Amino acid sequence: MAEIIDGKAVAEDVVEKVTAMTARLVADKGVVPGLAVVIVGEDPASQVYVASKGKRAKACGFHSVQHTLDADTAEADLVALIETLNADPAIHGILVQLPLPPQIDSGRIIQTIAPEKDVDGFHFINVGKLGTGEVDTAFVPCTPAGSMLLIERVRGRDLSGLNAVVVGRSNIVGKPMANLLLAANCTVTVAHSRTRDLPALCRTADILVAAVGRPEMIRGDWVKPGATVIDVGINRVAASTPGGKARLVGDVAFDEASANAGAITPVPGGVGPMTIALLMANTLVSACRSAGLPRPTF
Ligand code: GUN
Repeated sequence: MAEIIDGKAVAEDVVEKVTAMTARLVADKGVVPGLAVVIVGEDPASQVYVASKGKRAKACGFHSVQHTLDADTAEADLVALIETLNADPAIHGILVQLPLPPQIDSGRIIQTIAPEKDVDGFHFINVGKLGTGEVDTAFVPCTPAGSMLLIERVRGRDLSGLNAVVVGRSNIVGKPMANLLLAANCTVTVAHSRTRDLPALCRTADILVAAVGRPEMIRGDWVKPGATVIDVGINRVAASTPGGKARLVGDVAFDEASANAGAITPVPGGVGPMTIALLMANTLVSACRSAGLPRPTF
C-alpha cells in the first residue's frame, strides 16, 4: 500500500515557518508582510477561498486587507485599485481572485499587478522567469509550488532521471508544474484532452500529476508500481444515496491508485492545504525582498 502524503501536516509546517520568520522580520526590520486580496462579485466558492486566505494571513502575523467589489464593477475601477495597491509600500502581495465577471478582461488585470507583488505568479515576467529556469527569483503559482514541496518530501530535491507526466495544461497548474519538474531535472511530458493512449503514457510516470478537473478519471492500472501520485483535482460529486452527503474526490481513483503507487496525496487533505500555505510563503518572500533580505526557503 502507498504512503499517504499528509498535505495538511506539510502545509502546517510551512505556515509555522512563515509565522516564525514573520516575527523575526518584524522584530529585526520593522517590516510587516502585507497581503491584499481582491474579490469581484459574490461567487460563494470564491468568497470561501478569499475568507480563508485572509484568516491565514492574519494568523501568520501579516497585515491582511480584503477589497470586495460589486459584480458590475468596471474594469477601469479594478485597474485603478490595483495601481493604488502597486504603489502602497505596506502591501507586498496582491491576489485578485479568479474567475472575474465577464465585463473584465482577466488577462489585462493580471498584467496590471506589479510583478514584484504578483504572489500568484501569473504575470508574464514571473511566467517567463519560471520558463527560463530562474526559479529562485520567480513567484511560482501556489498550487504547483505546493505540489512540488510534497514531491520533494517523498523524493528529495533532485529528481534527475525520473519520468514525470503532468495531465492537464492549464496556465495555473499544468504548465508551471511541468516547468518546475523540468527545473528539477525530470523528463517531463504534458498530457491533455488530445493526448493519444493516456493510460499507457501515465504508466511510464515515476511522478504522475493529475490536474484535469474530472472526478476519478485516472484509474489504478494507469499508475506505475511505486510511482509518486499528486492529485490536484478537487471535484464535488453528488451523493450516491438519496439524502446522502456530496463528496469531494480528486482526479485520481484513490483506492485503486493507492494499491500501485509508492506515495499518493489524498483529496481532501493533500494538495489543497498547500495552496494557501504557499501563498503565505510567497508573500513573506516578497516582504523579505523589499527589506533587502535573502529569499527564505521552506
Ligand atoms: N481561483 C482559483 N484558483 C486561484 C488561484 O490560484 N489564484 C487566484 N487568484 N484565483 C484563483
